[in-house]
Amino acid sequence: MKIVYYSTSGNTEVMAQLMKDGIEAAGKQAELIVAADANADEIANEEVIILGCSAYGAEQLDEEYMEPLVNALSDKVNGKKVALFGSYSWGEGEWMKEWEERMKSYGAQLVGDGLIIQETPEDDEAVEACKVFGKMLANL
Ligand SMILES: Cc1cc2nc3c(=O)[nH]c(=O)nc-3n(C[C@H](O)[C@H](O)[C@H](O)COP(=O)(O)O)c2cc1C
Repeated sequence: MKIVYYSTSGNTEVMAQLMKDGIEAAGKQAELIVAADANADEIANEEVIILGCSAYGAEQLDEEYMEPLVNALSDKVNGKKVALFGSYSWGEGEWMKEWEERMKSYGAQLVGDGLIIQETPEDDEAVEACKVFGKMLANL
């Protein structure tokens, strides 16, 4: 499974790593790919498209890498399973709600609610939530 993410200060990256641990604990392999290196066609071939991005701008995706990647995926995700995650800080997760709606408008089938964690996942609950999310994806 491929986990594609954008993270500036490493918070979403920690989430991705914990999700990878969860996927591997469930007996599947997972690869972490930064958004800058991601190829839309390759990702679209995955059984589940897993994308992570922190909240930027004013409740927006990163404009440099994740935004173009999501655009490139817009005509490739119809009917496909998509899982979203990311870290935020002072907002209330609006960026994730908008991202979910956007993927649905492209015809994607969202797998659960987008997993959002405030700053870095450090308490047990946040760490566990990321691992459980990974396990859930591995068992789809
Ligand atoms: C320029 C900038 C814009 C941000 N905009 C938002 C925002 O709109 N809403 C929010 O909740 N957090 C916002 N944040 C906080 C980040 O989403 C938060 O620090 C997050 O944990 C960063 O994760 P990352 O290290 O994976 O990039 C912003 C941070 C920066 C530096």
